[in-house]
Amino acid sequence: MLEASLVYHRGDVVGTIASLDSHAPADNYSDCFVRDFVPSGLVFLLDGRSDVVRNFLSLVLKLRDQQEEVEGHRAVAKVMPASFRVLCNEEGEEEIHTDFGDRAIGRVAPVDSMMWWLILLVAYERISGDTDFTRSRECQRGIRMILNICLQDRFEIFPTLLVPDGSFMVDRRMGVYGHPLEIQSLFFGALKAALAMLDDADPDNQGVREQSAKRLEQLVDYVRHYYWLDDDRLNRIHRFRTEIFGYDSENALNIHPESIPDWVSDWLPLDAGYLVGNLGPGRMDFRFFALGNLLAVLFGLADESQSKRLMHLYDQRWDDLMGMMPVKLCFPAMQGEEWRLKTGSDPKNIPWSYHNGGNWPALLWAFTAAALHAGRGDLALRAREVATERLAANGWPEYYDGRNGRLIGRRANYNQTWSATALILTHKFIEDPSTLDVLSLKGSDKA
Ligand code: GLC
Repeated sequence: MLEASLVYHRGDVVGTIASLDSHAPADNYSDCFVRDFVPSGLVFLLDGRSDVVRNFLSLVLKLRDQQEEVEGHRAVAKVMPASFRVLCNEEGEEEIHTDFGDRAIGRVAPVDSMMWWLILLVAYERISGDTDFTRSRECQRGIRMILNICLQDRFEIFPTLLVPDGSFMVDRRMGVYGHPLEIQSLFFGALKAALAMLDDADPDNQGVREQSAKRLEQLVDYVRHYYWLDDDRLNRIHRFRTEIFGYDSENALNIHPESIPDWVSDWLPLDAGYLVGNLGPGRMDFRFFALGNLLAVLFGLADESQSKRLMHLYDQRWDDLMGMMPVKLCFPAMQGEEWRLKTGSDPKNIPWSYHNGGNWPALLWAFTAAALHAGRGDLALRAREVATERLAANGWPEYYDGRNGRLIGRRANYNQTWSATALILTHKFIEDPSTLDVLSLKGSDKA
């Protein structure tokens, strides 16, 4: 499947298409998505095909400069595309068509692409040792531009990154605007990656290095403290005093205890914990989002004890968070009025489907990596066992429906590339845990 999904440009492989299903419900599934390519890219790196990853990284870097300016916006640093495809024009020449959110369903901004790009760049350097590319002027400039756009001053004071709805893997309205965890974990990963990649000797990098290092420190403290939820923290929030002005309030964000949903205290085991889905003024989104949590473990945004307790949550709440097909994207699903208001009555995101509580095999690799990282190889094995036969027998669906992930997603594609690459990576990580090193965000030893 991976071979069949290859995208060529001028004779070279530059990516993989999202789905090989000719009946896919949306046209953009035949694009190469930056986020979907990440597990493909890791497989290529581990299989000794680094050149493919280099082609991809270099093309995406160039594509960014093609982004058109939106009328009325001042020229600003640019994001990387959500996806691209190679087409032949009437003269028989290849053309690349990109989506920077300007064509996307719902016109969502792809904030995560540039962060995934940086994380994959470190992986590429680690495996290939090709510093000629990673330390080239274009790459170094590319890294600085990503940092400029992320570190810009905004209208707020949090160290976390403020983004619009649907700007990452959840690329539709799901009440995930603001400071969603997945973006914060990726932001953390991207800052670490940038610090590993920026050439010390280049004076142009000085200022941005210092700023990144400071932001990283603040981000870690903030997320570990304010996003973390366990029994102790839940009790504190339950008894929070509100309406307190000044510097020293424990309830700095003025979270109203009344906003804690009933399911939380029934569901959260006494000795487990997780990072909540989103946080802002007067707002704590208690939903559990898998990818943000798993990446936090993998990149070290969650500390050791938090990582262990998160994996313990998976152990204790296996049916809810993994079920009959790993991994549940978000728990619990929104229902009724909440679904109507927060998704805009989205029929694709009905309760226990798609982003709203569906199960996504594409998340398997992140689960396996996080479990191994936190010393829970047993959970990685269990997930692999649940997924392997069923995924192949079902034809590699994009997602599953139902509280326990029993049903093939109603509008899911078959032959979804990242459902397959996630399983390949899972095998590789389990069979040889030293391969996990590819995701370590330190610079290459060869550099
Ligand atoms: C859907 C997913 C998105 C993914 C894309 C291509 O839009 O929400 O995360 O990148 O499909 O597979």
